[in-house]
Amino acid sequence: MNEKVDFKGSVILNPVPVVLITSKNKEGKENVFTVAWTGTVCTKPPMLSISVRPERLSYEYIKETMEFTVNLPTSKMTKAVDYCGVRPGRKFDKIQEMNFTMKEGTNINAPYIDECPISIECKVKSIIPLGTHDLFIADVVGSHVDSTLMDEKGKIHFEEADLITYCHGEYFKMDKHPLGKFGYSIAKKPIAMKDSAKSIEKENNTDTTKVKDLSKDRPRKKNNNYKSSNASKKRNSSNNKHKNSRKNTTSTRRKTK
Ligand SMILES: Cc1cc2nc3c(=O)[nH]c(=O)nc-3n(C[C@H](O)[C@H](O)[C@H](O)COP(=O)(O)O)c2cc1C
Repeated sequence: MNEKVDFKGSVILNPVPVVLITSKNKEGKENVFTVAWTGTVCTKPPMLSISVRPERLSYEYIKETMEFTVNLPTSKMTKAVDYCGVRPGRKFDKIQEMNFTMKEGTNINAPYIDECPISIECKVKSIIPLGTHDLFIADVVGSHVDSTLMDEKGKIHFEEADLITYCHGEYFKMDKHPLGKFGYSIAKKPIAMKDSAKSIEKENNTDTTKVKDLSKDRPRKKNNNYKSSNASKKRNSSNNKHKNSRKNTTSTRRKTK
């Protein structure tokens, strides 16, 4: 173990998600801003939180309607994520400048960003002033998920959504290869995982007995819980290209094994 340095009492919890929050005020004006202080706070009922400085335009909009949407951006959207976090909505029309396709919310009036593979609709339950930021605790009332990320069991494959994280002032791509799976450390039988995970374990010289290769591609099927919209159908056809290239990668990997 390396020697530890006593560090000042600042929040160095890293990495964290970085998301785009969309909102709409009572006059119908829409806004988007970047948030890194967000997190899951409850499973049942499903709840999440965002921390927002009162001077933000988004603070005003969200407090007025008590609604917002959390949009998960892809790595291709990183520049837009940064831009929406450094330009105030009072001076800039960020939605127009970033050329975002805004879709009407299903369960709330706040819109969601179609370019984001996952969007989560929220209704604010309480606002707790903390200091620099106010904590907005919200119920999750619905979500929109790119159908190509779902398998036939309804599992969402976030690892294939090309998401990003934020770490101490910098943006990073999420790794596609899992290091393990929930509960694998105590599993009696080997848990099926991607072959990449096995090779990472080998690289790290850790236990490979609990991990066996996944020999087949996961079957992709549209999930019944997912309400398909015209927009998502359009996205599906463009995603097919991406899907095919993914298949090619997989078969190349198999051949080289
Ligand atoms: C990576 C990143 C993360 C941010 N996280 C937050 C946050 O969690 N809460 C917050 O109030 N502002 C956060 N900001 C700053 C706001 O996004 C920024 O001030 C934005 O311009 C406010 O927009 P608005 O005035 O249009 O609402 C973040 C900025 C960046 C670049």
